[in-house]
This record gives sequence, structure tokens and C-alpha cells, in this order.
Amino acid sequence: MDITIRQEFPADYRTTEALVKRTFGEESYSDPTEDTLVHNLRESDAFIPELSLVALDSGEHIIGHILLSRVSIEDGRAAVESLAIAPVSVAPERQNQGIGTQLMHAALHRAAEVGHSSVIVLGHPGYYAKFGFRQAEHWNIRAPFDVPEEAFMALELTEHALDEVQGVVQYSQPFLE
Ligand SMILES: CC(C)(COP(=O)(O)OP(=O)(O)OC[C@H]1O[C@@H](n2cnc3c(N)ncnc32)[C@H](O)[C@@H]1OP(=O)(O)O)[C@@H](O)C(=O)NCCC(=O)NCCS
Repeated sequence: MDITIRQEFPADYRTTEALVKRTFGEESYSDPTEDTLVHNLRESDAFIPELSLVALDSGEHIIGHILLSRVSIEDGRAAVESLAIAPVSVAPERQNQGIGTQLMHAALHRAAEVGHSSVIVLGHPGYYAKFGFRQAEHWNIRAPFDVPEEAFMALELTEHALDEVQGVVQYSQPFLE
């Protein structure tokens, strides 16, 4: 499949947001909606430009997007920086062709490259296990809201990064609005 993955640039923002909106469409149960979340995250301290990636087709159209942003894992004594993956979007007509998988691999690789050591995700356990995610509960890392235990997962980008880490994940403000 002929796709390219690169960092998202400001000139892409509107197109990306339209893609995110179209991808989640009527299936969106979240408030704010995912495109608003992307927009607000970009304006926040949690945003890391290197970790907002787009997938382009052979005609240079944006057909996928992934965003990893800063969160912290806090236990009252210490706060450790981590990343949250959200959202991941692949254009409806291009789903199930491996694009989401390529975006995930590229984003995790880039996150490690720019010095991050762990990633958190709330999502479908079967999907994320393929990338090495395990239940966050394994490290005694918990969500700040009620979620099924198996849907809240973490991944070490560097070996043993979470050995000494535990606590509740504090999401950035855009997730809480
Ligand atoms: C989830 C999503 C990003 C996956 O991207 P994709 O390019 O379609 O995925 P891939 O082709 O790389 O992988 C397909 C696999 O993902 C699974 N999958 C697709 N959508 C899924 C979902 N919402 N939840 C769990 N698994 C999903 C497929 O069953 C398939 O599994 P298989 O490889 O075992 O057969 C994409 O389908 C999408 O944008 N969905 C709508 C938005 C969404 O739900 N985003 C995730 C939450 S932020």
C-alpha cells in the first residue's frame, strides 16, 4: 500500500480536523468531539508537534492521523510524564487496510526517538495488545475515571520504564473539558 507517514504541520490542521470529524462521525459519543479534542490539544501544553502524525495517500491526501500528547502518572509523592494516544483516525473508506497499524508503529517509534519512555491508551484490548500494550493495572496504573480494567493499557517504550511508576493518570485539560 502506497502511503507516507509524516509529522503534521500547521497547514494540515484544517484538513486533519475534517478527517477526524468524518472518521468519528455519528459514532462519536465523546464530548468534546474528537476533532475539537485535536484542536484543543494542539493549543495546550500537552501538545508535542513531533507526535502528531498524518498518513498520506499517493495523491498526498490526508487519510489518517494519530496524536500522542502529554499526561502524567501521579501517586501523591511523584509525577511521572507519559503520553496518551488519542485519537487515532483512519478515513472510513481506507479502514482495515493496515493504515492504523502503520500510524501506531510510526508514532510509537517516533515517541521513543524523541525521548519518551511510556504510553497509555484507553481502547480495545485486542487491537492494542498487538503493539505490546498490557493492562495498566499490571503496574498499578489507573484511570482517573471508571473504565473496564482491560481497556486501560500501557506500554513501555524503554525497558523497565514503568517498574517504579504507579498511580493515577492525569489527563491534560482538553480531555476534561
Ligand atoms: C481504529 C482505526 C484507527 C484502525 O485503523 P485501521 O487502518 O482501520 O486498522 P488496521 O487496518 O491497521 O487494522 C485493522 C484491525 O483493526 C481492527 N479494528 C478496526 N477498528 C477497530 C475498533 N474501533 N476497535 C477495535 N479494533 C478495530 C480490525 O478488526 C482489524 O483487526 P485484525 O487485524 O485483527 O483483523 C480505524 O478503524 C478508525 O479510524 N476507526 C474509527 C475511529 C476509532 O474508533 N478510533 C480509535 C479510537 S481513538
